[in-house]
Amino acid sequence: MAKHIQAVRGMHDILPDRTPYWQHLESVVRRLLESYGYQEIRMPIVERTELFKRSIGEVTDIVEKEMYTFEDRSGDSLSLRPEGTAGCVRAGLEHGLLHNRQQRFWYAGPMFRHERPQKGRYRQFHQVGVETFGFPGADIEAELILLCARLWRELGLDDVRLEINTLGTSEERAAYRELLVAYLRDNYDALDDDSRRRLESNPLRILDTKNPEMQSLVEEAPRLMAHLGEESRAHFDRLQELLEAGGVSFTVNPRLVRGLDYYSHTVFEWVTDRLGAQGTVCAGGRYDGLVTQLGGRPTPATGFAMGMERLLALMEESGSLPAPPAPHLYLAMVGAAAERRGLVLAERLREALPGISLVTGCGGGSFKSQMKRADRSGAALALILGDDEVAAGQVTVKALRDRMEQQRLDEPALVGYLRGFFTP
Ligand code: HAM
Repeated sequence: MAKHIQAVRGMHDILPDRTPYWQHLESVVRRLLESYGYQEIRMPIVERTELFKRSIGEVTDIVEKEMYTFEDRSGDSLSLRPEGTAGCVRAGLEHGLLHNRQQRFWYAGPMFRHERPQKGRYRQFHQVGVETFGFPGADIEAELILLCARLWRELGLDDVRLEINTLGTSEERAAYRELLVAYLRDNYDALDDDSRRRLESNPLRILDTKNPEMQSLVEEAPRLMAHLGEESRAHFDRLQELLEAGGVSFTVNPRLVRGLDYYSHTVFEWVTDRLGAQGTVCAGGRYDGLVTQLGGRPTPATGFAMGMERLLALMEESGSLPAPPAPHLYLAMVGAAAERRGLVLAERLREALPGISLVTGCGGGSFKSQMKRADRSGAALALILGDDEVAAGQVTVKALRDRMEQQRLDEPALVGYLRGFFTP
């Protein structure tokens, strides 16, 4: 026999025993976003490579090392999207949705990054992302954060904490960058290879290093916060005030810099300690410069994205996954005559009892094996059609989860009985 072809490393099937959890998470998120007035937008999975280079940044890990980039048959360089913000801005610009408008968008779907796979880090993963356009103030940032906090409550998660930081304007960052580079140059011997490489290209990312040997160096580096102008500082203060008023706790982490270049002012991450190294379940911030960078007019913008795999893992850790769903009814059909009547009966029941799920014993088999399948399906009741029932024009009803007298009913009585049984 030929060897099975395996899925691509870091890309996973989501099997039927897990999809109910995904559906649960997706439906809670969708309901919540709609209740805040966010509208869904769906973008292609493939975009021009140039889009990601211009938005995420040429010298970020994502663009330098992690994109799935290929040439299509027309010779265009395309990439699987590593995130959704760039595509969302591109779509907004292309369809004239951003200029002089206030917009609240959300999207969901697979993203692709060629990272080293480990628990919580995959090469195909799923995000729900939110982007707003036309809101310049800290109020929208507070709303995004309050929305997340509500979502954690609705999902039964109490172990996520909020870290926030400000990156100021691009001018402030540029001035700070010079100070930082000068400081790092003075300490060149203490830098690891990665940091030496980043010294010219992306020195702010050095602050984010996980290398324990560089921690004290980074601790003593000049702080961007101390070099912010009046307005940036006021913006960040206002956010903190709004979060306090909204009852959201947070810590200011001056080393939070994010791995994408488009941010300015506020950045934030929701982090948990329960998932090991990949503990960031949601991250985002303000990116006022991106729309102009992609050819539009100046448009304030904010957003975040959450990692669905990580959220599900955390829900599992916290015991807050819902019980797996089960059908209401299983219809066992024993014999050819019962099959003929059974399929028709099933259709009539589906019509008479909207919202009730009914699984038929298609595939036949003995009474015993069908009852075993009925039990395994998790159904509350089995409906049994055998030769006797067909001859009498009746159906036997047997409770599978409770102790209850089994009974035989004709069809009109059956519909009334089931209606009563499933509507408390
Ligand atoms: P990001 O921080 O790159 O931001 O990703 C957001 C979230 O996606 C992460 O916090 C994490 O939960 C999840 N994630 C990222 N990479 C992986 C991976 N390899 N495996 C599993 N989960 C992963 C963005 O993507 C920005 N577009 C967020 C944003 C929207 N900022 C403004 N608007």
